[in-house]
Amino acid sequence: MESINNYLGVSTSRLSSKKTIVVLGANGQLGRCLQDRTFLLASSNYTIVFTNSAEVDITDEQQVKRIFEKYQPAYCINAAAYTAVDKAEEEKEKAFAVNESGAKNMATYCKKFHTICIHISTDFVFKGNTCIPLTEDEVPAPVNSYGASKYAGEKAIQQIYPKHIILRTSWLFSEYRSNFLKTMNLLAREKKVTKVVSDQIGTPTYAGDLAELIFKIIETEKFPFGIYHFSNEGVASWYDFAYEVFKFYKTEKNLQPIPSEAYPTPAKRPHFTVFNKRKIKQQLQFSIAHWRENIPHVLEILSKAKT
Ligand SMILES: NC(=O)c1ccc[n+]([C@@H]2O[C@H](COP(=O)([O-])OP(=O)(O)OC[C@H]3O[C@@H](n4cnc5c(N)ncnc54)[C@H](OP(=O)(O)O)[C@@H]3O)[C@@H](O)[C@H]2O)c1
Repeated sequence: MESINNYLGVSTSRLSSKKTIVVLGANGQLGRCLQDRTFLLASSNYTIVFTNSAEVDITDEQQVKRIFEKYQPAYCINAAAYTAVDKAEEEKEKAFAVNESGAKNMATYCKKFHTICIHISTDFVFKGNTCIPLTEDEVPAPVNSYGASKYAGEKAIQQIYPKHIILRTSWLFSEYRSNFLKTMNLLAREKKVTKVVSDQIGTPTYAGDLAELIFKIIETEKFPFGIYHFSNEGVASWYDFAYEVFKFYKTEKNLQPIPSEAYPTPAKRPHFTVFNKRKIKQQLQFSIAHWRENIPHVLEILSKAKT
């Protein structure tokens, strides 16, 4: 496997008979989890090139063009995104530059190089005002700028190039970058009294499981193109999610549920974004972990890393 460090370098270990997968945004939660799991492709006919934002800025068409010209990849995984939900309200242009124009650049070169595009989107494309698990047929209606920029990215890809797999996921957490679980990890360890909203419902998803799913899709010959919903199993409020973390440290008495009105944020949040995952399950025979199963594993990693 090639690493980000030798993408720009001259020496590559790529065998000419192998097909290439290019990953954009390799230093994010998903990107890091993909890097950790390249062994899953060890016996496959693929070699993988990871690029971070300094190497390929997806808003820069020339940089995207160069990486496609260099590798002519069979697959491009777009793990790059602007993900700061609240900040996106004041940085709308930046969010759309990465999440819409960046997606457009990727799809344009996927089309030119006949590359299958795997793009990640979000449950935040939905309004979330029902309580029925959302299928891929549900019409998006984002309630904030981040969701609107991600939806714009989906539409751009769909208009440009049909050979895409768009995976919508929800509430990503991992041992990497900043995420809700890592914030709760610090508060729980410091025994801080913490109030968390209990009326927004969704499903936390371990980025490692999403990474595994992506490699499974690539290994499945002729995986049907289109949009798919993927999350871990189960349903939770942010309070339920935090409770699992506090319980791990036996500090759950410090946690209090509150309604959304008591915790105003710059970006509105959808109230219910649990996914119906029937479509992806019909394509891949695999068992999806419950969101709770992954939490001790990630907390163990964090406690060893003393972060
Ligand atoms: N996080 C969630 O809760 C969540 C929920 C649902 C869906 N998703 C979606 O899942 C995907 C992965 O999310 P994540 O949590 O792994 O994101 P993340 O940890 O925030 O990482 C995003 C990555 O994108 C890179 N990036 C930003 N702008 C870029 C640009 N112009 N060019 C190239 N790279 C750029 C960042 O680079 P730097 O390393 O330089 O910052 C970072 O490495 C995204 O599509 C996101 O929308 C996330």
